[in-house]
Amino acid sequence: MVQAGFIDAAEAPPRATNEIKLYGADAFVGMRKAGRISAECLDMLIPYVVPGVSTAKLDNLAREYLLDHGSTPACLFYKGYRHTVCTSVNHVVCHGIPGPKVLKDGDIVNIDVTGIVDGWHGDTSRMYSVGEVKRKGLRLMDVTYECMMKGIAAVKPGARVGDIGAAIQAHADQFDYAVVEAFCGHGLGRVFHDAPNILHFHKKRPGRLRDAEPEEDARERGLPLLPGMLFTIEPMINLGKADVALLSDGWTAVTRDRSLSAQYEHAIGVTETGYEIFTQSPTGQHTPHTSGAGAS
Ligand code: MF3
Ligand code: CO
Ligand code: CO
Repeated sequence: MVQAGFIDAAEAPPRATNEIKLYGADAFVGMRKAGRISAECLDMLIPYVVPGVSTAKLDNLAREYLLDHGSTPACLFYKGYRHTVCTSVNHVVCHGIPGPKVLKDGDIVNIDVTGIVDGWHGDTSRMYSVGEVKRKGLRLMDVTYECMMKGIAAVKPGARVGDIGAAIQAHADQFDYAVVEAFCGHGLGRVFHDAPNILHFHKKRPGRLRDAEPEEDARERGLPLLPGMLFTIEPMINLGKADVALLSDGWTAVTRDRSLSAQYEHAIGVTETGYEIFTQSPTGQHTPHTSGAGAS
């Protein structure tokens, strides 16, 4: 018997459900493969992200890479989406659509890819610099990466889902950046987007007069994290306000104030002692926004 609200993934229907699936060792093996190919795809793109390249070209490269390596692009034909990657440039928060648009010197761009291997989804994204990026853009990307990693570091059995957003928010607050609330991380596995939602923000309750009872505190911190949970952490951080607007293409989300936005995403699993990241760059190029020079 598993705890209420959770279900043994082996007994769960193969679709998104309200109950949170708890996966076994076989899932971790599958997620490692899917995560690795997806991360390698993002590595492969690094030298191509230069002034003058079109986002359609990057999409083609990613699609060919996945297909050549035994992986299916999860986004292709997902809910009517017709591309392998999302390319979100400058003030685009997420779900930017690849096309003839050409990247120019000074742009920042997030590339988000999900390769499927044996049914498992490796969902991951990184920021890339295009040529010489101004310091405020570089700093936003650095802090966004740190936000993701701090969210991940909060993951262990006994912690709660809300601790992830609290860690991310606390870091973003230090820089007066805004955490996007309109999009969240998500459970994944054999399903691309599944329960639970992983919120990247944390709203402090105003004026609490006394220390919370343990049960109240636990409720506020959300569901417990249990070994075998698989989900993404993918904070979007804005230089300006948190508000987003959707463009008329039905996909592209932008900052309402058109301020710069950055995002990083890893797919992870909860282990007995903490977490495992499935989508680490095998070549250590975790933060390609430092001009492909490797992690800063
Ligand atoms: N990769 C995105 C995520 O992190 C989902 C993109 S859905 C698409 O969840 F259809 F736009 F590709
Ligand atoms: Co995702
Ligand atoms: Co993604």
